[in-house]
Amino acid sequence: MTSPRPWPRDIGPILLTEAEIRQRVAELGIQISHDYAGKDLVVIGILKGIVFFMADLLRAITIPVTVDFLAISRYGPTEQTHGVVKFTKDLSEPLAGRHVLFVEDIIDSGFTTHFIMRTLSLRQPASLNICILLNRPRRRIIEVEPTYVGFEIPDYYVVGYGLDFKEQYRNLPYIVKFDPDQISEG
Ligand code: IMP
Ligand code: MG
Repeated sequence: MTSPRPWPRDIGPILLTEAEIRQRVAELGIQISHDYAGKDLVVIGILKGIVFFMADLLRAITIPVTVDFLAISRYGPTEQTHGVVKFTKDLSEPLAGRHVLFVEDIIDSGFTTHFIMRTLSLRQPASLNICILLNRPRRRIIEVEPTYVGFEIPDYYVVGYGLDFKEQYRNLPYIVKFDPDQISEG
């Protein structure tokens, strides 16, 4: 087991502060509440990184919703997806005829979101949309169209607010720029 690395100071410059995130999540909650008023809404996220954004977004939504989670694992040559995606936890909620909002932390190449959307659409929801906290459009390989976007971010790796590097830093309450090379091992 690796010991926790020192933070927050040694990680990197802050990209999004707690206040900026809170403000934007509140706006997304208002918009979603408006768009889905009167509809049977199921909000779905992928464990584990989404739990922070999900918890805040749900509390910013002012209409009744059902929540569900998926878990996946990726097999590939590198850490950054592009391999096979496999479900390790399925949904417990039926989706047929319901309005589904897939909530994700970040879209990078688009592979993960594309795979999930394809899988969710097979369950015949009445509608299926994407809400992402962070969008990094310049690295897109597969086209995906998020309806709700928290922030567009530049082309560098980030951690915090659920986003990890090797399972660490998820519990930072804000989002920082992260350079893996600056972290010395051991
Ligand atoms: P994609 O499949 O290439 O779009 O990558 C999306 C997934 O990769 C996200 O669900 C994250 O788990 C992970 N990811 C991509 N970029 C970052 C980042 O900057 N920080 C942390 N995780 C990331
Ligand atoms: Mg991850």
